[in-house]
Amino acid sequence: MQISVKNINEVDCACDVLIIPFTEDGPYPYTGFKPSVSRLIANLRQKEFRSSLLEVLLIPAPEDIKPLRILLLGLGKGDAMSAEKVRQAGGKALSYLRDMGMKSVALAVQIFGLLNLSPCDFVEGALLGLYTFRKYRKEDQGRTVSSLVILSKSSREFSLSLRRTEIAASATAFTRDLVNTPANDMTPSDLAGAAQLLRSEKLSVKVFDRKYAQKIGMGSYLAVAQGSKEPPKFIVLEYKGSEKLPIALVGKAITFDSGGLSLKPSEGMEKMKYDMAGGAAVLGIMKAASEMKLPIHLVGLLPATENLPGGSATRPGDVVASISGKTIEIVNTDAEGRLVVADAIEYAKRYKPIAIIDIATLTGACAIAFGGEAVAMMGNDRKLLDEFRKAGEETYERVWEMPLFDEYKDYLKSDIADIKNVGTRIGSLSASACFLYEFAGRTPWVHLDIAGTAWVEKDRPYIPKGASGIGVRLILNLIERLQ
Ligand code: BES
Ligand code: ZN
Ligand code: ZN
Repeated sequence: MQISVKNINEVDCACDVLIIPFTEDGPYPYTGFKPSVSRLIANLRQKEFRSSLLEVLLIPAPEDIKPLRILLLGLGKGDAMSAEKVRQAGGKALSYLRDMGMKSVALAVQIFGLLNLSPCDFVEGALLGLYTFRKYRKEDQGRTVSSLVILSKSSREFSLSLRRTEIAASATAFTRDLVNTPANDMTPSDLAGAAQLLRSEKLSVKVFDRKYAQKIGMGSYLAVAQGSKEPPKFIVLEYKGSEKLPIALVGKAITFDSGGLSLKPSEGMEKMKYDMAGGAAVLGIMKAASEMKLPIHLVGLLPATENLPGGSATRPGDVVASISGKTIEIVNTDAEGRLVVADAIEYAKRYKPIAIIDIATLTGACAIAFGGEAVAMMGNDRKLLDEFRKAGEETYERVWEMPLFDEYKDYLKSDIADIKNVGTRIGSLSASACFLYEFAGRTPWVHLDIAGTAWVEKDRPYIPKGASGIGVRLILNLIERLQ
């Protein structure tokens, strides 16, 4: 969708539909409209249109104005307004108009100024809400809104924030595409290929194979890979927008998680293509950071592999050595995420990062605890955790902290190795983070478990069902805070 800014009167904008957003109770900014439009609106607002959040009413426009139709859009109560509600309204309005076959759309923005909010939030919701995944279905291919005109004065600041909004939304769409793609077309090699396409002047991409991982001793990561015929790919991206020490991003990239020999039940197993959502988010973030030309140094690490129960698969009870030298008893091959992320965290330390952030669809327990409403967060650095909480509130990719008590270490005591990869089901959300903590050590580190939020089962106003792309907007916001 093409987005532009035009400083003309609403009634003079030739388009399929003009969107006019309203709150339930004041403020009412549209006093300058032509009498024909004002009368029509006043009438509808008295009768059928309540202006409640996400309410839409599409009507033919009076003949003396240029837009062909008007969409009345409800924002809900004025005093309870938030960026998130505007985002949701943007997602709802544009996907509704797309479904109604509208092509050119314009937006009246006066109300956002009165509410102290930016039309960019609307645009963000609109772009995210229009996302579709049609790679495998040829019908309704051309159905999309082609242009959105924002009827506002332009300024350098506004066009800059609009550009950032567009980059973040398209990075989220990129991440969603990777995650939605079935595992037969999104193998570790395919993921590496997608990463390589991101190469640019300041963004380098290296892909390491099994041999190299063996050479440097990534026994934990390789233990997961050995049950599959698909070769593992350890993908390393580096964006150098500054010479400072980097922030390292580690994304779990299991392109399919069958559980391995600790096989998962078949019901729902098809969804385990989304077990690389953390890695896909890291790729989206690297893409956006380089397009935004952020003045930061980022390293992205994706330990990519399948987790399959082939003839050479890891057996429950096997002991392997991680790159750190720590030995791990693999009690359950389905707890593979922590095995690949642990080696990647240890590898990240080679860059002397100021912070390590890992993002992973790590535990079913996360989804049980929060449903689809929050990312579970654990870490060893109060400031970083606090910044994440704020980033979560701003982006509405909300995070919730869980404890990392010392006692969880006992859950992972092995009789024969330094540590085992699972304890009992009880406390498994914190215990999984505790496992990673053993590898992060004293480097400031935050772990984000996105098992509950990476995939949505039902359409949301700006997240169509399927891959959500969670983590992209959240971590971009965090990075800008640390800048
Ligand atoms: N990829 C799964 C976690 C998961 C579950 C993600 C549901 C998304 C939705 C992970 O590898 C896993 O299987 N974890 C196990 C660990 C258990 C064996 C300790 C789990 O949470 O059940
Ligand atoms: Zn698993
Ligand atoms: Zn997994």
